[in-house]
Amino acid sequence: MAIAPTFDIQLTEADLREQLRTDVLWGLSSRRKWLPSKWFYDARGSKLFDLITGLPEYYPARTERALLHGCADEIARQASGATELVELGSGSPEKTRLLLNALSAHGSLCSYVPQDVSESALRAAADWASDEFPYLSIHGIVSDFTTMLRALPHGGRRLVALLGGTLGNLAPFDRTAFLGELHRVLTPGEQVLVGVGLVTDPAVMIPAYDDAAGVTAEFNRNVLHVLNDRLGADFDPLGFEHFAVWDPDLEWVEMRLAATKPMRVTVPDLDLVADFAAGEQIRTEISAKFRLPALRNELAAAGFRTRRAWADPDHRFALVLADR
Ligand code: SAH
Ligand code: TRP
Repeated sequence: MAIAPTFDIQLTEADLREQLRTDVLWGLSSRRKWLPSKWFYDARGSKLFDLITGLPEYYPARTERALLHGCADEIARQASGATELVELGSGSPEKTRLLLNALSAHGSLCSYVPQDVSESALRAAADWASDEFPYLSIHGIVSDFTTMLRALPHGGRRLVALLGGTLGNLAPFDRTAFLGELHRVLTPGEQVLVGVGLVTDPAVMIPAYDDAAGVTAEFNRNVLHVLNDRLGADFDPLGFEHFAVWDPDLEWVEMRLAATKPMRVTVPDLDLVADFAAGEQIRTEISAKFRLPALRNELAAAGFRTRRAWADPDHRFALVLADR
């Protein structure tokens, strides 16, 4: 008999709404408009992201799954003392099964702790995990991993995973802060596992963020739906066009929404009026791609020692295991 999962809702709807207000006020009144990416993921956004992971163009998900297939046992051997797998931004953690199976077979794993800002995704993940892994204790956490790592459960020996290239969605400054804070909250002997996209051919990377069926475009526009739903804004999402642009200097894919015509958007909850000129863009997301030596250095600067890295034969994606 599976034990029912437990939940720790560290961020309520009211907290999220307050943060969204601040972010939107900031982002839409800037000269170059932007919106932070965690707002993509309401229930609809999380479902759209799930569809993205099944698209033929979206190689990161299947490449990471194939990598895990090949190296989960080795990861489990190298992390054999771990009693808890804490997964940040767990989303829909289907490929985490490979890791949970291997960690259970090799060692002392007792619990799985999925964490996400999206409560709907988190509840689905925890329910899925408790069905699949009835012998593990499942504890779901709704929080923001950029500001709330300190409130993660501790006591056991943790392996903290951040898969799906999510590390690359943090701006460089936020990424440094995140890794530094992760190092501070972990204790010696604990470990991290990150899954990151590697710098590869733009002809491969761009379609992954601009698919033929238009699912990614709809996902990108979802942030406007979220502003309409949560703050009463009056965006016409279809009045915005999706773009994915590779920046060769910064080595990231930048997602943008461009107004197709002049528009005035009001956000009554914030007393905000935002005017868009035709062609004006909102930056919604970056997806940084990495080079392994630089990533090792970044991890080292935060205090982590890379134990091992695995990349696929085409060098498009990598998993990196590092010690605190
Ligand atoms: N790990 C999954 C999902 C990746 S999508 C996979 O590999 O397929 C990124 C996930 O991170 C989403 O579920 C999103 O809700 C979550 N997320 C984004 N920003 C977050 C934040 N600041 N704090 C917590 N979760 C966040
Ligand atoms: N972590 C995913 C990535 O960087 C997030 C993502 C995939 C995404 N497709 C997107 C974010 C499209 C915004 C728009 O690959």
